[in-house]
Amino acid sequence: MLIDDFVKMHFESQGQIKRGGNKKVRLFDDYVLLAGGFKEDEIKKIILITNELKKRGIAIVPTLEYKIVYPPNDLGYARGYILQPRAKGTEIYSSGMSDEEHEKRLHDIANMNIEKIDKFISDWLDIENAGLMIDPSKTTNFFYSEDGISFIDLNLNGGKTEPLKTYFVYICGILTDYLSNFSTEKEIEYTIQIIKNVAVCFMKSGLEIKDINDIISSKQFMHSLNKAQVYSVIEFLTKEKLRSNVTSSAASPKIFDKKNEKR
Ligand SMILES: Nc1ncnc2c1ncn2[C@@H]1O[C@H](COP(=O)(O)OP(=O)(O)O)[C@@H](O)[C@H]1O
Ligand SMILES: [Mg+2]
Repeated sequence: MLIDDFVKMHFESQGQIKRGGNKKVRLFDDYVLLAGGFKEDEIKKIILITNELKKRGIAIVPTLEYKIVYPPNDLGYARGYILQPRAKGTEIYSSGMSDEEHEKRLHDIANMNIEKIDKFISDWLDIENAGLMIDPSKTTNFFYSEDGISFIDLNLNGGKTEPLKTYFVYICGILTDYLSNFSTEKEIEYTIQIIKNVAVCFMKSGLEIKDINDIISSKQFMHSLNKAQVYSVIEFLTKEKLRSNVTSSAASPKIFDKKNEKR
């Protein structure tokens, strides 16, 4: 098993140590070894689902192998190791970032191409629908690279998913570093751009402008934006909606053909 090689390297203190909430992580060039407590039946399911999603082109880090070192305790948690490929890029936002790095990251996300934002959202929904839970409470569970954004730290969700609105809130939160109220002017500008882009993508999946308006004008969501800024987002979305209705009917060959048939 590949994992045995990495456990050996871990004991030789190769690779960099990184501490998570309740896991210790050893980073190697292409793989990571996670040490902690887990339930074997859950890990087995996670291996199956993550590998299946990976095959479908979804940007997740699959769990590859595990190794139990101590048998399960009374709560069913065994201690051991898990092997994963190393996610490409870096944590989307982290406390170790300098102010300059933080502003640059927001800038890069605000300027990310819309197909990549779209993929991030559809990957998120596909992962949840496949039975895995993404933890949206920490930006360190999302990795950013030039290719796009990928997901780590996945657990089983027991078949429980959330309404579309909730994912809109989560995704805006992750991409904007939770709309930090310590933002600079430039950062607020990037934040608004990110919300516009995410909202356009969610509109395509069926989220109504009214819902988006309710969410972004609520105090919890928008503590750092003023009314005019919220209004600018809604105005932009309304225009986008009109524009997409016009282009979709103009581009529809069926309508054109029907008219021809009547003649
Ligand atoms: N597959 C991976 N690729 C790259 N870094 C990882 C990977 N898994 C974990 N890490 C790093 O270790 C940190 C903690 O791991 P994580 O699985 O998120 O544990 P926790 O449950 O403690 O949050 C992550 O935020 C990330 O920086
Ligand atoms: Mg984590």
